[in-house]
Amino acid sequence: MKIIQLEINRIDELVELWNREFSEQFPMRKELFIQNTFEDENLFLPGSWMAVDDENNVIGFIISKRWQDPTPVPMPLNYGWIQVLVVSKKERNKGIGSLLLDKAEKALKEDGASEILLGSDPLHFFPSIPAEYENSAKWFEGKGYTYTGNEYDLLAAYDPLVKSEMPQLDGVDIEIASIQDKGELLRFMNQVFPGRWEYETIRYFQKGGTGREFVLLKKAGKVIGFCRINDDQSPVIYSNVYWAPLFSEPLGGIGSLGVDPVERGKGYGLAVVLAGIATLRSRGINRIAIDWTAIIDFYGKMGYQIWKEYRKYRKTL
Ligand SMILES: CC(C)(COP(=O)(O)OP(=O)(O)OC[C@H]1O[C@@H](n2cnc3c(N)ncnc32)[C@H](O)[C@@H]1OP(=O)(O)O)[C@@H](O)C(=O)NCCC(=O)NCCS
Repeated sequence: MKIIQLEINRIDELVELWNREFSEQFPMRKELFIQNTFEDENLFLPGSWMAVDDENNVIGFIISKRWQDPTPVPMPLNYGWIQVLVVSKKERNKGIGSLLLDKAEKALKEDGASEILLGSDPLHFFPSIPAEYENSAKWFEGKGYTYTGNEYDLLAAYDPLVKSEMPQLDGVDIEIASIQDKGELLRFMNQVFPGRWEYETIRYFQKGGTGREFVLLKKAGKVIGFCRINDDQSPVIYSNVYWAPLFSEPLGGIGSLGVDPVERGKGYGLAVVLAGIATLRSRGINRIAIDWTAIIDFYGKMGYQIWKEYRKYRKTL
């Protein structure tokens, strides 16, 4: 066995190993792996390694991220993220995972990271450790990682014969964005949700987004709230549709979403989600996921139920 640098030319083996270990709950597509790892400016190669056996088969890998994208958005510069660590089942308990993690942690620390988070990286696969991988969570605890709470993915299925109605609001327009809204939407993101959601919106337009993935709430032409909606026509495989291959029918996704703090508590949040649902349904989607949230009561009002659970872990170096 030896440890070698993560390389895009081993992509087929990386996806194959991922799917051998995780495909029942998290089926990987090559396109998604490339998008979220090799095309991410924040991939941190000094902390990303593969373990190969004596026949040169990939038997494990670790992928790390550090914020390196030159896009001027506020992102935590002291974080190092582990996007994923996996060791083939038949190669476990031989110290390979420890070796990979140790190399990644050392490189992240040397680069200035003071906190390591499991998942939740820019262009993440997992918000944190899937709850069903209990042994992995325990293993990370043994490596000094601390549990900090839960996150959830939610899911709802709709009867194709029952239409979802577009909500109405007094004094607020509900619109599907067009490319003309790009400037105003980016202004809103920068002022109200600077950081990750702003970054994801900038990337969306860079990847050729036309606006159809955003429902906007506008007061006198000014954006006061948004809901991102995703399907298989979207220019980016967004986080709530990562696991669409689990279903034979198309999967849609709701989120991110947010309302300007001065406009909250007026029913706008609920309305923008309902507008997102109605829009996705008018596009032929009858199954919708909402990912990486802790506000399950809010979405519960619209019939969403827990689908996946994640346990958050971090380590201070
Ligand atoms: C979540 C958010 C969009 C809600 O917007 P809002 O306009 O204040 O929500 P509404 O006024 O439409 O609330 C409707 C109902 O949901 C409830 N609700 C609102 N926020 C909630 C929350 N964080 N958790 C649980 N319930 C919530 C309200 O109490 C209200 O209940 P009621 O109808 O029984 O009175 C808004 O708080 C926000 O932008 N937060 C920051 C971004 C965010 O967290 N987005 C969600 C990420 S998953």
